Amino acid sequence: MFDLLFVLLIEASVIIIVVWITWSAIVGAPWLPTPKSRVRSMLEFAGVNQNDRVYDLGSGDGRIIVMAAKEFGAQSTGIEVDPLRILWTKLAIRRNKLGNKVNVIRGNFFNINIEDATVVTLYQGHEINKKIRDKLSVELRHGTRVVSYRFILEGWSPVKTSEEKSVYLYIV
Ligand SMILES: C[S@@+](CC[C@H](N)C(=O)[O-])C[C@H]1O[C@@H](n2cnc3c(N)ncnc32)[C@H](O)[C@@H]1O
Repeated sequence: MFDLLFVLLIEASVIIIVVWITWSAIVGAPWLPTPKSRVRSMLEFAGVNQNDRVYDLGSGDGRIIVMAAKEFGAQSTGIEVDPLRILWTKLAIRRNKLGNKVNVIRGNFFNINIEDATVVTLYQGHEINKKIRDKLSVELRHGTRVVSYRFILEGWSPVKTSEEKSVYLYIV
């Protein structure tokens, strides 16, 4: 009896872990953190400052929104589906005492309006970027800066590019 319970417990744990890990891969790009040096380059590229409201679509462990607030003085919001990354982000916000400048929303960024953004940061895949581009075209105000790491936004012309750093800046 206990053996059976033990086996069921192990099986259930394995299923939960696999679903958890693959969840973001099913919904969108899986979690792959942008190196901190590249995060800084993205924020510098976009000229982020204390007047900005930054959104990171698929914010992972929160490194972009935390740096945007801590080093560049912006208000920042992350949108993330993965509950584990959300927990890490909340811990990072608390550790850095940034509760008044940074927040993270749990959800699918395609369902959340970001019209008040002045800067949007992205590290998603090529195909998802096509859908994101359509969302951004509808929601963002003229002049909003969009900075993407590794993947371009097809059909838009970047105003600044670093092939070496794989950073692309667009202005809507
Ligand atoms: C490549 S990682 C980038 C993480 C972070 N922006 C960074 O640069 O370090 C992509 C993140 O997007 C999240 N994601 C993918 N699709 C999403 C969606 N539709 N809504 C919210 N988050 C999503 C994944 O869970 C993952 O954490």
